[in-house]
Amino acid sequence: MVEIKNLKKRYGERTVLDIPGLRFKDGETVALAGANGSGKTTLLKILAGVTKASGGSFNVPERVLYMPQNSYAFRGDALRNITISGADRSKALELLEKLELTHLAAEKAKSLSGGELQRLSLCRVLSKKCELLILDEPTSACDTKGAGLVIRAIKDYQNNCGCTVIMSTHSPLLALNAADRLIILNGGKIESDGAPQKTLAEPGTQWAKSFAAGWKI
Ligand SMILES: Nc1ncnc2c1ncn2[C@@H]1O[C@H](COP(=O)(O)OP(=O)(O)OP(=O)(O)O)[C@@H](O)[C@H]1O
Ligand SMILES: [Mg+2]
Repeated sequence: MVEIKNLKKRYGERTVLDIPGLRFKDGETVALAGANGSGKTTLLKILAGVTKASGGSFNVPERVLYMPQNSYAFRGDALRNITISGADRSKALELLEKLELTHLAAEKAKSLSGGELQRLSLCRVLSKKCELLILDEPTSACDTKGAGLVIRAIKDYQNNCGCTVIMSTHSPLLALNAADRLIILNGGKIESDGAPQKTLAEPGTQWAKSFAAGWKI
């Protein structure tokens, strides 16, 4: 279980994250939504150990994998960009196929398009095992088909290892199709927390109502 208590992040005088209490059950898939600057990346970075909190506490399992908001490529071809994380060649090829990147296996990773690179970054992350998978906007650069591939890959991975998944997104498709819980942040605070369909159909506050209205698909 992931448990957060009185978690705060401040930059100077500005508090950008303020979460009194939050729990994620083992095996849960959680989508984190909210406007630009609402604190999604900040929360994920703190849980991933990339950024230090200004106050409060949290616990995460031992094995955590994190995919940042901005995808990056190492030197070399797409296949090497997966095996570099320690995966064997057959696992890397299996993931490339799953994300429909096989035809690009020998291409320089730095030359891939934004959506291709994002799917390659996911392959790199999913080539390892973990207990907590943290994904920052994993479909943001993908077209509809690519987003579908990403969603399927995340689900299959989760079904295989039973890990907890926390992912931020601006995509109703991802939240509604892949998550069993949707948390909406507003100004660093939790505005709403519940089942995605229910949260969008019956938003708790006026603010969540207007946010959900923009998310109707
Ligand atoms: N290093 C930093 N110094 C100062 N302010 C920061 C820093 N990092 C983040 N912030 C501020 O914290 C707030 C939350 O940023 P964060 O990246 O968590 O937002 P987000 O919800 O992920 O937004 P987006 O949807 O654009 O990715 C923003 O207002 C941002 O300007
Ligand atoms: Mg972000």
